Amino acid sequence: MGQPPHASRMESLAFSVLYTLPEFARGVVIRRPAMVGLMARLRTYDAAQRFCMRLRVRHGGRSVYVRSLRGKVLLLLSQGDVERVLSGSDEVFSLRTKEKARGFSPSQPDSLLLSRGEARLDRHRFNDAVLQPGTVPHSLAPRVERVVSEELDGIFGREPGAVDWGRLRAGHSRAVLRLTLGDAARDDVRILDALNALRREGNWLGLRPWRNGRVRRLRRVMMTGIERHLAAAGGESLAETGEGSLGGSAETGEGSLAGLAASAPATAGTCPAGQVPHWLMALEVLGTTVFGPTLALLAGHPEHYERARPRRSTPPATARSCAPACTRRCACGRSCPRCPGSSPHPSPGTEPRSRPAPIS
Ligand code: HEM
Repeated sequence: MGQPPHASRMESLAFSVLYTLPEFARGVVIRRPAMVGLMARLRTYDAAQRFCMRLRVRHGGRSVYVRSLRGKVLLLLSQGDVERVLSGSDEVFSLRTKEKARGFSPSQPDSLLLSRGEARLDRHRFNDAVLQPGTVPHSLAPRVERVVSEELDGIFGREPGAVDWGRLRAGHSRAVLRLTLGDAARDDVRILDALNALRREGNWLGLRPWRNGRVRRLRRVMMTGIERHLAAAGGESLAETGEGSLGGSAETGEGSLAGLAASAPATAGTCPAGQVPHWLMALEVLGTTVFGPTLALLAGHPEHYERARPRRSTPPATARSCAPACTRRCACGRSCPRCPGSSPHPSPGTEPRSRPAPIS
């Protein structure tokens, strides 16, 4: 009990070398594929995990303060502390770290993620009206299924075939653009290219101020595209429904988050277009963090692959329902890995008092 112990200098140094540096090399806002490959070959995750296990044994199963490149960090090594942080409110374990602001401000300076106070409440209302958290299925669910099927059909045709990651990724990006900004945005890849370039700038956490001009140019390209499609989707949405409540009619094929945004509650401070980069990013990231690894896991586990593979005799709706089952467990906000820059910080006076936990 009492305050968590502090790691020695050597232990802190080892943690930085084995975990923090490789994590920054891999990319904290957007992954750098070459670095991900290199770190995988060097097996840095294994080394970091072995080191943390040793640290846990040495400190009696308690969480430990380590000095890292970003200052003093509490490394959660006790099961009870992990549960407390994951289930605690973000008032207690604040998610608003300096690193997060630096990492995400190039690509989404006006987003809910980086907002505080009144603006945050306002943007929360707006985001909730569009994203409908807790509503299952989302009002655009049939449209999502149709768009994804259309884009996959465009890649594979109707017959099973080999998966090419580059083409699959491109199809996923087109689906993301259509579902976020409407069908007219399908080939507006400049928007996603600019967003991803801004995320790559974010990887440097503001350490390259001489690139600010480039950041402004890229943001102009991205926002000009987003605003144009948002205005068009708003117009369509109003024309379709008279009030704009269906997001541009999911039934007739025009539904999008931009269409829903047209009827979401907004004030002068909401900045609807400023919320869109996060939606685009979140949907795009699903491709690399959920669909890609799910397909890779299925490829390596024949028994699960067989269960997920649609049979010729299987009705299409049942066939499609297998793959979502593989990915559903990943889609919970707080239990998935994310960038170290966005790890929660305990608010003053709320540091976990760790209790020894059984070491498995
Ligand atoms: C596998 C899927 C997803 C996971 C694991 C996930 C995870 C997360 C996490 C961990 C956060 C908190 C980040 C932080 O504050 O540091 C977050 C925030 C957020 N996510 Fe997701 N997300 C997913 C999908 C999506 C999708 C598809 C959208 C929208 C299209 C979305 C929209 C948002 C928004 C608007 C926030 C900001 C919330 C706030 O600041 O209160 N997410 N998400």
